[in-house]
Amino acid sequence: MLAVSKRVKQTKPSYIRNILKVTQQADMLSLAGGLPDAELFPLDILTQAADELAQSPSIFQYGATEGLTELRQWLLEENGAAEDVLITTGSQQALDLIARSYLNPGDKVLCEAPSYLGALQVFDLAEAEIHTVIAEADGPNLAQLEQQLANYKIKLFYAVPDFQNPSGHCWSLSKRKAVASLLAKYNVALIEDAPYRQLRYQGEPLPTVSKLSSYAAFHLGSFSKIATPGMRVGYVRAKQALLAPLIKVKQASDLHSAQPMQLMLLATVRHPSFTEHLDKLTNTYRTRRDYLAELLQQQLSDKLEFNVPQGGMFIWARLPHHNAMSLAEAALRQKVAIVPGDEFWPSNHTPDYQAIRLNFTALTEPQLEQAVSRLKKALLQCSPMK
Ligand SMILES: Cc1ncc(COP(=O)(O)O)c(C=O)c1O
Repeated sequence: MLAVSKRVKQTKPSYIRNILKVTQQADMLSLAGGLPDAELFPLDILTQAADELAQSPSIFQYGATEGLTELRQWLLEENGAAEDVLITTGSQQALDLIARSYLNPGDKVLCEAPSYLGALQVFDLAEAEIHTVIAEADGPNLAQLEQQLANYKIKLFYAVPDFQNPSGHCWSLSKRKAVASLLAKYNVALIEDAPYRQLRYQGEPLPTVSKLSSYAAFHLGSFSKIATPGMRVGYVRAKQALLAPLIKVKQASDLHSAQPMQLMLLATVRHPSFTEHLDKLTNTYRTRRDYLAELLQQQLSDKLEFNVPQGGMFIWARLPHHNAMSLAEAALRQKVAIVPGDEFWPSNHTPDYQAIRLNFTALTEPQLEQAVSRLKKALLQCSPMK
C-alpha cells in the first residue's frame, strides 16, 4: 500500500466535507455550510457575461500566471493601492500559496481562536506550529497578542477582521490600528483574509488592517460570497516583492486560474446591475440574520449565548450547558446540521469553550424556523454537561 505523507496524515479533514453526504439528504436542513444562497446568484448578469466570452476566443488559450490584466487592473484601481495583485483559484489558494512560499516545517503561525478551519488545514499541511490568541468581539486580545509576538518567533499572523468565520466578529478601528502597530514592532507579517468584507448589514466599513500596516501584509479577497463560489475566483494583494514567490509556486501548482471565469467575473462586477444585486443580497441576508437571531432569542435563550454579527454569514453561539460535539450528533438525528465549535481550534488545542456555528444565508425564513425547532429538539435530547 502506498504510504501517505506524514503531513497529510496529521491534517484534520474538514468536518463539513465529512458530513456532506448526510447534509445532502433531501430532508436535511443545513445550518452547517458557509454557502451563499444559490437562488440569489446573479444569473441574468452571468448569462450575459458568458455570452460575451465568445467574442474573445483568445480567452480560452493559456494565460499569465498573475491573472487577467484587465481584472488585476480593475482590482488595483478599486483599491488605489501601491501594490500588486495575483488572481487565485479562490482565496483558499492564496492561503496555500503563502504557506508554501514562506513556511518551513516548524515555523510559527499565530491565528485567532477560533479560526477559519480551511486556514488551519493549510497551516497543518505546511507543518507549521500553530499558536493562538483569543478572538474577542472587537478583535484579538491585545495583551495575549503582544505576549505571543514577544515570546515566540512568530512568522505570520492570520486573521479575518471583517465578520470572522466562525465568530462573526468585526474588529474595532482601535484594535485594527493596535494590531498593525504591534505587527510592525515585532516584524511579523499579516495575512488578512477578507471574503465577507462586502457582506455588511449595518454600520460603516472600517479600513483594512493591511492598509494600516507598515510591515509586510497580504490582503486576500474573494468573489465567492458576492458573485458565485463555483467560479473559484479570488485574489491576493500585496507588495510586488512579497507576491513574487507566490507566482513561482502557482506556476508549479496550476499554471494559472481559468481565464474565462476571470473575464466573466470582471464583466459581472462591472455590470451596471451588479450594485442592485449586492443590495438585494445584503438585504436578504440581513433579514435572515435578524430572523434567526429572533428565533434563537425567543426559543433557546436559556441554552445559547450569542451576539448578532454586523455582517458575514454566521451566528456563533456559546453553549453554557452542552457539549458541542454531542449536540451536533443529536442535531443530525433531528435532520439539522450544525458545526461544533471544536472544529475551529487547531488540532492539538482544546477549545476554550463549547460553541456552535450557525449559517443564516443558505436557508429561507420558513426553513430557518424548521431548523431552529429541530435544534431545540436536539438540545432537549442532549444531556447537559456535568
Ligand atoms: C475565512 C475564509 N477564508 C477563505 C475562504 C475560501 O473562500 P474561496 O471560495 O474564495 O476560496 C472561506 C470560505 O468559506 C472563508 O470563510
